[in-house]
Amino acid sequence: MPSVLITGANRGLGWGLLNLYAKDGWRVYACTRDPAKAKDLNDLAAKSGGKVTVHKLDVENHATIDALAKDLKGQPIDVLLNVAGYYGPKIVSEPGGLQSFGESNYADWDKIYRINVMGPMKVAEAFVSNVEASGQKKIVTLSSIIGSIAGNDMGHMYPYRASKAAINAVMKSMAIDLKARGITAIPIHPGWVRTDMGGPTADIDVDTSVTGMKKVIGELKAADAGKFMVYDGSTLPW
Ligand SMILES: NC(=O)c1ccc[n+]([C@@H]2O[C@H](COP(=O)([O-])OP(=O)(O)OC[C@H]3O[C@@H](n4cnc5c(N)ncnc54)[C@H](OP(=O)(O)O)[C@@H]3O)[C@@H](O)[C@H]2O)c1
Repeated sequence: MPSVLITGANRGLGWGLLNLYAKDGWRVYACTRDPAKAKDLNDLAAKSGGKVTVHKLDVENHATIDALAKDLKGQPIDVLLNVAGYYGPKIVSEPGGLQSFGESNYADWDKIYRINVMGPMKVAEAFVSNVEASGQKKIVTLSSIIGSIAGNDMGHMYPYRASKAAINAVMKSMAIDLKARGITAIPIHPGWVRTDMGGPTADIDVDTSVTGMKKVIGELKAADAGKFMVYDGSTLPW
């Protein structure tokens, strides 16, 4: 039975991915900042016959990542899935949500970087031995088309855009550095999706995005390491 560890599994795309992998019979390590508040997640885990377990993990709090890595020492993880992410205090469609030039709040920048860049990096460093011990050996981080420098034709979104460009650089290096250990690492753009972050006017629903991403992840080959993938199987320019 393959296994997946998902961060940000309590809502949005993490919740959608969790449901798909659980339905498919995978062993799922579902991570959330506050397990006591994750009612749907706990209900699903309770009905899973031990295949889905819920774990506390706050990507801003590295002690929680180290503690879980200690608990899961020796357990293979086929797919390490960094989903947890943060746009900022206002979503893009709200007034002030465009993160425009001249409006920077550097406390927000700091938080966005801690969650979107250092978080997935720390998770990868903490669980790389688990991935290496697995059959599939994949590390996947949810990035965004907004992080594509070549694709930036609209400006704005400074902290979020910079954080996703930064995690792309991180994933590209990881793809190169971990290749010799048999690990395939990619960033993936989930599409613009109707979640709390994407907002109600986004292009696609959660099912379309997560079904596509699961297929892309399932079909990943070593030669795909370091590509900037999209949920529909296409690729993006860096
Ligand atoms: N939706 C889109 O259109 C879109 C487009 C491109 C990329 N993405 C990326 O896709 C990923 C998921 O987005 P989404 O739309 O599902 O967002 P969402 O609905 O806002 O959910 C965000 C998830 O991240 C978790 N999270 C936030 N901060 C965390 C932290 N410090 N530690 C652990 N978990 C934390 C949240 O947990 P809490 O419930 O505890 O806050 C929640 O589970 C993100 O990386 C995002 O940047 C989304």
